[in-house]
Amino acid sequence: MDEAQDVRTFIDSNADQWLAGLQEWLRIPSQSGDPALAGEVRRSAEWLATALREAGFPTVEVWETPGLPAVYAEWPADDAGAPVALVYGHHDVQPVEPLEQWTAPPYDPVVVDGRLLGRGAADDKGQVAMHLLGLRAHLAATGRSAPAATVKVLVEGEEESGSPHFVDLLRAQRERLRCDVVVVSDTGLWRADVPSTVIGLRGLVSCQLDLVARDVDLHSGSFGGAVLNPATALARMLATLHDESGHVAVPGFYDSVLEPGEEERAMTAALPYDEAQWLADAHSTVPAGEAGWSTLERVWVRPTAEVNGYWAGHTGAGTKTIIPREAHAKLSFRLVAAQEPDQVRAAVEAWAHAAAPAGATVTLTWEGDGVRPCATPLGTPALQALHRAMARAWGTDVLVTREGGSGPEADLQDVLEAPLVYLGVSLPDSREHAPNENVPVEMLLKGAESAAYFWSELAAQA
Ligand code: BES
Ligand code: MN
Ligand code: MN
Repeated sequence: MDEAQDVRTFIDSNADQWLAGLQEWLRIPSQSGDPALAGEVRRSAEWLATALREAGFPTVEVWETPGLPAVYAEWPADDAGAPVALVYGHHDVQPVEPLEQWTAPPYDPVVVDGRLLGRGAADDKGQVAMHLLGLRAHLAATGRSAPAATVKVLVEGEEESGSPHFVDLLRAQRERLRCDVVVVSDTGLWRADVPSTVIGLRGLVSCQLDLVARDVDLHSGSFGGAVLNPATALARMLATLHDESGHVAVPGFYDSVLEPGEEERAMTAALPYDEAQWLADAHSTVPAGEAGWSTLERVWVRPTAEVNGYWAGHTGAGTKTIIPREAHAKLSFRLVAAQEPDQVRAAVEAWAHAAAPAGATVTLTWEGDGVRPCATPLGTPALQALHRAMARAWGTDVLVTREGGSGPEADLQDVLEAPLVYLGVSLPDSREHAPNENVPVEMLLKGAESAAYFWSELAAQA
């Protein structure tokens, strides 16, 4: 019997039914950031729990948190000595505004030109669902009644809100989550025809900066020109976040930044990279950023300071001649290597207070605990097993990338003391977090196929 042939046959003959199920899941607007939709996140958890039971998982539980629920499932291998893997993903999604930019309603998923379109299609319900199909294909093709490796699944409901209760959940359930490897399915491929796995994610801290000069707005004719204008003062402050060469000008910001090693540089250089295409995917015409680093280095191995938004004074129609009393900005910082959220927060606080103009108070309010960066060593054995599995599905070599985005991966790695590998299949033009989020159905099926092989590869390696 040819395992690959049987995996493919199973996936082909079950794809339509599986896709219909995924579309049903995508109809649930499980936005974790909107308290009014908490019931929908719960409904999404229940949907997944039912789907996992139907796929055959003997143990399926909805795990409560002080916030929104996660889903846990477990399917032990027959062989008690088989390796144990934990699949991680999330079932919550981002908001959908601006609605008018969607070509189809975000919560009424459709397949257009082979792409499944809808909020959560790529990030991350599609990538969680592919494991259900993959595991069934693995069993059908190998004739097993239990997977070759013990498969545990943990799908959280608060990832898009910064996973505020996830680390506590991991600590509380550490024993049941015990595993030899974590399979993260929440990232992307280099290209549809160039399969790749991720070896690192950046960390993240974010805050609101409030610059307050006084308790009332002033008439700009009576007072303008002779008192501090917080809107102007904020603009000046934000302009000092970076120097002329795009280097972040917060003292101490780069203290724990390490540069990538030779082996990684060579692997990055091996990627077929087209700057024009990268810029097109970024809907941009010119690169920008820290001098001395390439585009990929800027988003993968360099930390950043970003202004996500700012506002002050009159922003409505017509004229209102005032000196606004206060000004505000939302800032976020992507972290790399050994940068710690606490250390970066302290450096930014010191920068902000030093940069504050006389006659105004500056306050920073930090969002959550922040996210630590994380990296998987290139020599991790499970990484080789995953590369073999994906190479079988794609019929070509698997390359290595990083992602500039963030998630609770460092907590998974540290609390569970297991290496992380990334089986992710979204594409650079999947428009995650944006209108028309999409993923080719073919990529989800290749992901399912890879998962099917991976359980065999992992067991064979043990
Ligand atoms: N799946 C993404 C992380 C990601 C981003 C992977 C880009 C690959 C490419 C995840 O759902 C996400 O959006 N994370 C947020 C984290 C934040 C809300 C704490 C991010 O990176 O902004
Ligand atoms: Mn995600
Ligand atoms: Mn996301």
